[in-house]
Amino acid sequence: MSTVLTNESTGLARAWHPVMRAADLGNEPVRVQLIGDPWVIVRLNGQISAFLDRCPHRNARLSDGTVVDSTLQCAYHGWRFGETGACALIPALGAGATTPPTANIAPIRVQVKYDLIWIAPQEPLCDILPIAAWDDPELTKVWMPPIVFGASAAQFIDNFLDITHFPFIHLGTFGTKDDETIDGFDLAKDTDPWGFTLLRDHMIANKMDPKVGTGEHPLVQPRSMRYDFRAPFTSALQLHLTMTGMRNVIASFCQPIDMNTSCLYQVMIRNDVHNDDDYARAIAFQTAVFDEDLKIIEYLYDKAIPLSGGQTHTKADRNTVEFRRIMSKLLSAT
Ligand code: FES
Ligand SMILES: [Fe+2]
Repeated sequence: MSTVLTNESTGLARAWHPVMRAADLGNEPVRVQLIGDPWVIVRLNGQISAFLDRCPHRNARLSDGTVVDSTLQCAYHGWRFGETGACALIPALGAGATTPPTANIAPIRVQVKYDLIWIAPQEPLCDILPIAAWDDPELTKVWMPPIVFGASAAQFIDNFLDITHFPFIHLGTFGTKDDETIDGFDLAKDTDPWGFTLLRDHMIANKMDPKVGTGEHPLVQPRSMRYDFRAPFTSALQLHLTMTGMRNVIASFCQPIDMNTSCLYQVMIRNDVHNDDDYARAIAFQTAVFDEDLKIIEYLYDKAIPLSGGQTHTKADRNTVEFRRIMSKLLSAT
């Protein structure tokens, strides 16, 4: 029987996943969903904690509670939990009473990286992808608003890594028929046990170049791409337009919410954004590109990706075949 990767595959618990923007966590608890399970994220005593969103008393949602005296207080009967999950107070028993050990809740791993809050429900098998451009002071970060969409995170990343769809669904933005044949690309599979790097030079239609309108540059221009992928659903795509000097790293972090829904956190790290107009133009263009992808990926069958069999691959797909191999390894790890 072939393994199928969905947003609720249990092996996904052994990895880091983004669940919200760090800036969106205020003084009250927030409910998030990951791999089909609900989690509560809360700042207690200056540190961010994450717990299953279920009170051990009568199963209320802890995210409906409030922060009181640096503890998370359940909305139903007022039990309070500290940042390690230890039950600090059961009001019905009175202050200072001993609380049963089963009243404690287990914290899970949490960290802030790339302005996002990440959690790992179980011991993670790999770290979050390093992105060198993140710390480059010469570049400007342009965050897309988080986008919730109706496909699996695997279907998103399979599409993001796919280099053969540009001249078909992206003709409205950057695709060109001159890019239909994949003459070759370099795929480095042995530098990262949980990821790979792909290098490719190809042609795009550069409608964003003002010198195309004046006739100084041709519309179809060469572009260098470098993809870095890290399991489960993170990829940084480094773009370089040699004719204009434009550099842009599109970092994509995808959260598997439930079987049918995912959230994309995406940031562009660019050298061509100097003012508000540039910023707005970059967001509008990237939104148009993703809208083109969504028209296809939200209608793919099954919200799942078969990891062996069930689909037909060619040598032009060998990076997305490698994605399947890595995810197979993650799901079958013991
Ligand atoms: S359900 Fe949470 S205190 Fe009772
Ligand atoms: Fe695309």
